[in-house]
Amino acid sequence: MNSARKTLLVISGGTETVEGIRQIREDLGTRIVVSDGNPKAPGLALADHALIANPYDPEETLSAVRGFLGNGGRIDGVLCLACDAPHTAAAVTAALGLPGISPAAARAATDKLLMKEKLSAAGVRIPWFAAAPDAASLPALVADRLPVIVKPVDSRGARGVTLIRRAEDLPHAWHLAAEQSPSGRVMTEAYLDGPQLSTEGLVIEGSCHNAGYADRNYSRLEQFAPHVIEDGGELPSRLAPPVLADADEQLGRAARALGISFGPLKGDVVIHRGRAHIIEVAARLSGGYLCTYEIPISYGVPLVPLAARQALGERIDPKALRPRPGPGTCQRFVFPAAGRVIAMEGIEAVRARDDCILCESRFAVGDIIPPLASHVGRAAVVIMRGHDREDAVRRANEAAASIRIETAAP
Ligand SMILES: Nc1ncnc2c1ncn2[C@@H]1O[C@H](COP(=O)(O)OP(=O)(O)O)[C@@H](O)[C@H]1O
Ligand SMILES: [Mg+2]
Repeated sequence: MNSARKTLLVISGGTETVEGIRQIREDLGTRIVVSDGNPKAPGLALADHALIANPYDPEETLSAVRGFLGNGGRIDGVLCLACDAPHTAAAVTAALGLPGISPAAARAATDKLLMKEKLSAAGVRIPWFAAAPDAASLPALVADRLPVIVKPVDSRGARGVTLIRRAEDLPHAWHLAAEQSPSGRVMTEAYLDGPQLSTEGLVIEGSCHNAGYADRNYSRLEQFAPHVIEDGGELPSRLAPPVLADADEQLGRAARALGISFGPLKGDVVIHRGRAHIIEVAARLSGGYLCTYEIPISYGVPLVPLAARQALGERIDPKALRPRPGPGTCQRFVFPAAGRVIAMEGIEAVRARDDCILCESRFAVGDIIPPLASHVGRAAVVIMRGHDREDAVRRANEAAASIRIETAAP
């Protein structure tokens, strides 16, 4: 059956899904069902049918899907967009016999410790890592390995991830990570320095085909220490083709090691001493607009519609994913002091510019901005276009600096 006559379930309907849902509708003309736990999620308003179910709860989502099917609805494919819930997508595809990855592969893609164990067994290049069962034993565990990263085994958005250089800071770091882990589990890794990359593409018949690469910007690492906060990134990557090919190869091995033989693959990669090392991979499409704006503009690949077609059972020609480096895009964030927002200026002016792809604030006047401890606290975001990467970077830095978010003690 033609994709246009099929129905796609998109898992999650937050702000970052809106453009992706729009692109799927425009490109495929397919019917779209969106599931989200928040009835006000903007993606639900764009759906032909909305399911109210927490994306991180596979049983709740499956039961909502069964209710929909019982009322005469149909679902031909499932896509997890801007939310780290491949286990929910896998629960639905496995139950309905639709294309997807196995629940076991999805679990390996969301449990950072299990992931690293599998990657290590398969010989994929990764940092040294270990489980950190309690705060007291952490200093002895990493004594001669500082600096290290301490992180929750199962969270996202840099929540609870810290870069620790001194042994005396380790117990506090352990507690920060444990608080952010739904299962209370913490792990540690050697901190690998070097340029960081975000990659995104599709796995087709077991081979990974990346559509694009973003150079992640960690210029504020010291400012926000010990938290590891990314201040956006820029495309096309400045890294040389052989370095990107090395990242491709490690990502392909990682996908095989985890049993991800199909669907989206988002990679966090660090080029440490000239060689690609895998920090993690995710079996879903990105949040943060990499797949919706940055890769289509800077690499010419309509990644979201291709992922939707694949989810609906179409065979995707890997050539369609081949990166074609073009104009620059750059994303930057605005980081006001924590406190109650008393004034906000400049968003509309940036949005009105021809070179602005996106400019939005996550807070409004009267809201409380929490102390910055993860990507959740990045108050406003701009994505600007330039004729090349450097031009885009200059424009995005300038646009972000023109936005003023004034806060006062709450
Ligand atoms: N071992 C490491 N070496 C260097 N940087 C790391 C390492 N582990 C994590 N980071 C940095 O911290 C960020 C967040 O860690 P990550 O494991 O990707 O968790 P999350 O699920 O929150 O994205 C990474 O994108 C990377 O910049
Ligand atoms: Mg990550």
